Amino acid sequence: MPLLNALKGCNKERPPIWLMRQAGRYLPEYQSLRAKHSLYDLFFSPKLAAEITKMPIERFGFDAAILFSDITVIVKALGFDLYFDEGPKITGNVQVVDMQVLGSIFETIKLLKQDLKVPLIGFCGGPFTVASYMPEKVDLALLTEVTIEYVRQQEKAGVDVIQIFDSWADRLNDREFEEYLPHLKKLINAIQVPVIFFMRNAYKRFSQLMALDIDAISFDSAMPLTQIRKQTTLTLQGNLDPEILFQPLSKIREAVEELMVSMRGDPGFIVNLGHGVKPGTPIEAVQCLVETVRLHYSEKE
Ligand code: CP3
Repeated sequence: MPLLNALKGCNKERPPIWLMRQAGRYLPEYQSLRAKHSLYDLFFSPKLAAEITKMPIERFGFDAAILFSDITVIVKALGFDLYFDEGPKITGNVQVVDMQVLGSIFETIKLLKQDLKVPLIGFCGGPFTVASYMPEKVDLALLTEVTIEYVRQQEKAGVDVIQIFDSWADRLNDREFEEYLPHLKKLINAIQVPVIFFMRNAYKRFSQLMALDIDAISFDSAMPLTQIRKQTTLTLQGNLDPEILFQPLSKIREAVEELMVSMRGDPGFIVNLGHGVKPGTPIEAVQCLVETVRLHYSEKE
């Protein structure tokens, strides 16, 4: 399995490719399901969520699937109400912690594991990022504990990897980030399967992130991966600009080829975007990205 090997830093084959937000609005098959169901229903119906998770694998042959869910669903386990209107809307306050209310998500994972041929990435939000969507100032220690239990249940259901999306952690200043780190460490150290960490502008917190017990970091295109590689042996994920997918196919090929050449032979490299696939991204652009990655290897081996 190229993804799991790359996470161990010992991949000898073509680098694995998957894309953040690979299951979503740019896919016509997703849109036709979405027209019939609310987002909330899609997240909490195991059959539908499993079907959506598999859509991009079936269409593009990605090397990993990411569970179709959202980082905000965890607030339900704390007793908050959640609905989606443009983005997640959370109301209420902390009640008793009850992981059972997320049972359908663990069902989705079990369904997927029955026939999925590629590794399944489960995920959680970083406590800071989830808190930033919540109506009141929530206790980060409690949110971290609940996140640990949530990940544990995902592992029990069968996920192969966990990606932590701490998208907004770059908003913390130096002192705040230092104060936040113990929560993040606690979460990371509790995870048994390989961990990929994502935050916007990860390079800004490079040295602190390197000290975490993680298996990979996801970077955006602000810094070439070859530059980052000089400073670490950790697995690197990224780092194509999602905007590239709105360019003509020739430009996409050029950008992907450049990345592939620069990281050629790297045993700990996962091809991805720097952020999620944007709504409105042309299908042909994603197809072109995937084909260029494959072609690069089939031609030169
Ligand atoms: O394919 C995948 O990547 C898996 C599914 C996934 C979703 N959300 C589904 C979703 C994942 C990994 C997420 C993570 C997530 N959710 C993050 C972290 C990653 C990032 O983008 O920074 C954050 C901050 C959220 C919170 C969230 N959920 C927002 C802000 C929004 C609205 C804006 C947006 O990007 O759509 C959502 C809704 C959401 N989550 C959709 C999907 C597919 C939109 C679907 C629709 O409207 O039909």
